Amino acid sequence: MKPVNVGICGLGTVGTGTFNVLQRNLKDIARRAGRSVQITHVGARRKPDVNLAGITHSTDIFAVAKDPNVHILVELIGGTTVAKDLVLMAIEHGKGVVTANKALIALHGNEIFAAAEAKGVVVAYEAGVAGGIPIIKAIREGLVANKITSVAGIINGTTNFILTEMSEKGRDFDDVLAEAQALGYAEADPTFDVEGIDAAHKLSILAANAFGIALQFDKVFTEGITEITTEDVQYASELGYRVKHLGIARRTESGVEMRVHPTLIPEKRLIANVDGVLNAVLVQGDAVGPTMYYGAGAGAEATASSVIADIVDMARDIDSPGLVPHLGFSIETEDLPVLSAEE
Ligand code: HSE
Repeated sequence: MKPVNVGICGLGTVGTGTFNVLQRNLKDIARRAGRSVQITHVGARRKPDVNLAGITHSTDIFAVAKDPNVHILVELIGGTTVAKDLVLMAIEHGKGVVTANKALIALHGNEIFAAAEAKGVVVAYEAGVAGGIPIIKAIREGLVANKITSVAGIINGTTNFILTEMSEKGRDFDDVLAEAQALGYAEADPTFDVEGIDAAHKLSILAANAFGIALQFDKVFTEGITEITTEDVQYASELGYRVKHLGIARRTESGVEMRVHPTLIPEKRLIANVDGVLNAVLVQGDAVGPTMYYGAGAGAEATASSVIADIVDMARDIDSPGLVPHLGFSIETEDLPVLSAEE
């Protein structure tokens, strides 16, 4: 079978991780995909610090979207303006798109998915939620039989890392945040992490998949961890609790409720012991009951693991345009009301 050609735009933390993991595990990935998956074009403003032998490098990322030899464009530049134009251009050129950009999906997903549907291509975003945990696939595929009643968990690695270090080592908030940035966990603008915005982006995506509703980021009640002090978490610990920053989406009698905020959790609960950059997502289905998914929520190669999973999914179906998978949620109408952030 002919190889699938991948163009990667953005070689920052996740882009470099994706490049390295794809190159390192090329043979295993080809065996599982049923064909070879090769990077043929990289779009990055500066010459990247990777071996580009046999790979085209463009400083203009839009050149990747226009490249007729690229089948799948991987958007890893971040942000919601240029990234949106890039994704829409790639769709217009008939390419499948893989992105780790939860802000883009949360804010513009309804428009992007409509464009992709019209063109018969897929936009995949597993890496946008909970890093290396295949939570979107779990909801869309493994739990497809269920009516899901709630999705909740730790969905921002940076805040969990900060809270863990404050609790276990008594470290100062700013000091741990600086380390999270150095380790490549934090967003380009870390206020997205510590103010809860990143978790709210992810929660709106989880809720859309779990409940079949349109993306509604503006309806997420959002509170971060900036008011929490080292004394708070240590005092909670003395009382037998852990402070965790949670995203919670659940069906209520009046509609879907979505909220993100710090929560006191008894230390015996499993989720209270999910520490460091790890994420954990609990999904409750009517048939399966409670399920929990656990793993690295951020970091170059953990996130690359999800990016590549989407690339391989797409590579398997690249010659079957009729097989575009159903999105799994509405982008227009809703049967299920969603409560506003104030309700
Ligand atoms: N800044 C994000 C986090 C990266 O810390 O969870 C992964 O989405």
